Amino acid sequence: MSTNRRYLTTPIYYASGDPHIGHAYTTILSDVLARFWRQDGEEVLFLTGTDEHGPKIEDEAAKRNTTPLELCDEMAGRFAAAWDILAISHDRFIRTTEEEHKAVVTAFIQRLWDRGQIYEGQYSGWYCVHEERYWTEKDLGPDNSCPDCKRPVQHLEETNYFFKMSEYQGQLLAHIEANPNWIVPEERRNEIVGFLQQPLGDLSISRPKSRVSWGITLPFDEDHVAYVWVDALINYLTASGAIDPSQESGAQGFDDVSGSWWPCDLHLVGKDIITTHAVYWPTLLMGVGLPLPRQILAHGWWVVGDTKMSKSLGNVIDPLALSDEFGTDAVRWYLLREMPTGSDASYTTERFMTRYDELANILGNLASRAIAMIGKYRDGVVPNAAGTGLLAETEATFATARDAMSRYRVHEALAAAMELARAANGYVEERQPWSQAKDPEGSDALDETLATLARVLAALCALFQPVAPAKMVDLAARLGLDGVPTLDGALALAMTGRSVRKGEPLFPRIQQTREQVQG
Ligand code: MSP
Repeated sequence: MSTNRRYLTTPIYYASGDPHIGHAYTTILSDVLARFWRQDGEEVLFLTGTDEHGPKIEDEAAKRNTTPLELCDEMAGRFAAAWDILAISHDRFIRTTEEEHKAVVTAFIQRLWDRGQIYEGQYSGWYCVHEERYWTEKDLGPDNSCPDCKRPVQHLEETNYFFKMSEYQGQLLAHIEANPNWIVPEERRNEIVGFLQQPLGDLSISRPKSRVSWGITLPFDEDHVAYVWVDALINYLTASGAIDPSQESGAQGFDDVSGSWWPCDLHLVGKDIITTHAVYWPTLLMGVGLPLPRQILAHGWWVVGDTKMSKSLGNVIDPLALSDEFGTDAVRWYLLREMPTGSDASYTTERFMTRYDELANILGNLASRAIAMIGKYRDGVVPNAAGTGLLAETEATFATARDAMSRYRVHEALAAAMELARAANGYVEERQPWSQAKDPEGSDALDETLATLARVLAALCALFQPVAPAKMVDLAARLGLDGVPTLDGALALAMTGRSVRKGEPLFPRIQQTREQVQG
């Protein structure tokens, strides 16, 4: 993995429906990683966007009596607006209907063709439009339904172009075996290894325009469009800047990606789309002769109570409504603290409240009381003292957080940060600054207590920054800092003499929030 440059991607979301909490989770998880790396001095390219071709979009547009492009314009706008509200710091928002992307897909497919990787054949089988994927007869559920989403599947018999995916089975398996961390977590890696131990077929990469017209036309047969997954996966390459389709073949960048962001450092995906990312995508890259992404991280699934979220059940959680009620940083904290990376988690209002209370009662409370005491006892100026209480705990927390983040165990990093805040509240109880203030001999001890609290708050500001960026900018200002400290900077920061400032609670108690919302 490169040390000072990192290219990170989310899946591109279908432009057929509104963003929900599942999309928000993937994007926030990516954002927390991106912010953490940037805070640590790395240069990051963070990509997200929308997946805009294929029958799913075509059907939805027809249902709404609009054109596919109009639907996509609207939905891409909604995703971008949602990411703004949720404080996503992506560097690029790609849409697969962009001219640049279409040109890269065309060049990619032409390259496969030129290298003898594609042949024409007959497809006969079952297709689920909702999942945009094929099923074999034996996979189907009752009444020819999709085993994943339970919707009816279509029987297809048509001419398709096929990519010789099967030729790369051994090479891919060898790559996975030689790079045990290529797919994380291990459970997903094992799933893919198991899949690759079965015979691997070739991949249909086209659709006849007579059935699907909303797509990118194949360069060598204008009666066919690219299969939407092939089109979509290539977005990662488009945004990397590796391929310049305007150049003659041979100079387009397929033989030399230096100077671009390719290969990608991390594709972050939900576990539902691990096969497309860990089998289709790498074999396609092998087919054109490009290096593989360095790592694929698959996270788990958000369910509601114990049921899958779905439009038809009417139980889809809207992250924007939650953000409106409790604030963006609280939503980010809940989602990232609650779900162990890689596992499933269940959304419940009770759990949301419990997690919110941690912010309000532990972190928020610590900030309020420490700043109030510096105000009351030292005129709002951090006293000159070593401030070395909790130093070992603070250092240990940074080490734990760094280690957890390097393994994408974001929930562990966040838990450790909250533990430090809890320990600092314990430190206040133990030191009793209000008694130190009354004790005529207690002045130095009080200075030490207050200096320690100021230092720990600066450290917490750095630790919580990736998950709660807006609130930590606010906290940094209240602590008299010029900005949120870097990870390395936080421990070495001189706090003496800084003027602190009181303010509204960083995280108002829920009762208050509810009253505010109700006006
Ligand atoms: N368009 C494809 C991806 C193409 S990437 C080249 C797609 N889009 S999607 O809109 O269905 O979004 C899928 C992703 O959203 C999942 O992989 C996952 O990251 C996220 N989630 C959607 N629902 C989710 C949950 N209920 N829980 C967690 N994440 C989920 O597939």
